[in-house]
Amino acid sequence: MEDPKQRLIFALDVSSRKEAERYVDELDGVVDFFKVGIILHTVTGGGFVEQLIKQGKRVFLDLKFYDIPETVRDAVRQTALLGADFITVHAQRQVMEAAVDGKKDSPLKVFAVTLLTSMDASDTSAGKSSEEIVLERAKLALECGCDGVVASGREAGIIKEATKGNLLVICPGIRPAGTSPERHKRTVTPSDAIKAGADYLVVGRPIKEAVSPRLTAQKIIEEIYTAINPL
Ligand code: C5P
Repeated sequence: MEDPKQRLIFALDVSSRKEAERYVDELDGVVDFFKVGIILHTVTGGGFVEQLIKQGKRVFLDLKFYDIPETVRDAVRQTALLGADFITVHAQRQVMEAAVDGKKDSPLKVFAVTLLTSMDASDTSAGKSSEEIVLERAKLALECGCDGVVASGREAGIIKEATKGNLLVICPGIRPAGTSPERHKRTVTPSDAIKAGADYLVVGRPIKEAVSPRLTAQKIIEEIYTAINPL
């Protein structure tokens, strides 16, 4: 996957369909991959996902499922039928196994959330470091048959190493140099995340709140290109 454009996912964290459509239009031809999360999905339901797919866009449905196995299995099955590309679930054995079962042989990829980038080890009661928690969950995700994990760019390298490159890694908490980390505790630049082994970058506010979202997305794609093709 050497096309840098395919590695950028824009988080459509907006609360109306109109606003989402405005960003999709503004980024047309630059960003092809969109993350629909719990805010937008609550407002628009699957209809907006279908619309994006009809427009030829790729969709990462980030609903972070966590429920009894039967419910997760059916929800993932419906996501596959909708035609979304990626779905997220919590990194808990029963949940991940049910999700993998639900996607069957569809092209939908199941990603497990390791540790939110707004959290670090002090936010968990396990008495383990963030790295230990993330690695433990990544290994379990692989064992359960997940396609990948969502993790901070700081952990992408150790995940790739520990799972021998058998898990895809999506990294949120990306901040181009000079931008505010907001509430994330573990941010990295686009370039550092790619060099560490990230397959996909999820970027929300740095693009959304930029004077020119289109230009900012283009710059991030250039940065990804340079990280993949060092001089
Ligand atoms: O605006 P920002 O670039 O911080 O957006 C990050 C996005 O990534 C948000 O949509 C958030 O829900 C998501 N996220 C995630 N997993 C994490 C951290 C953030 O899916 N560990």
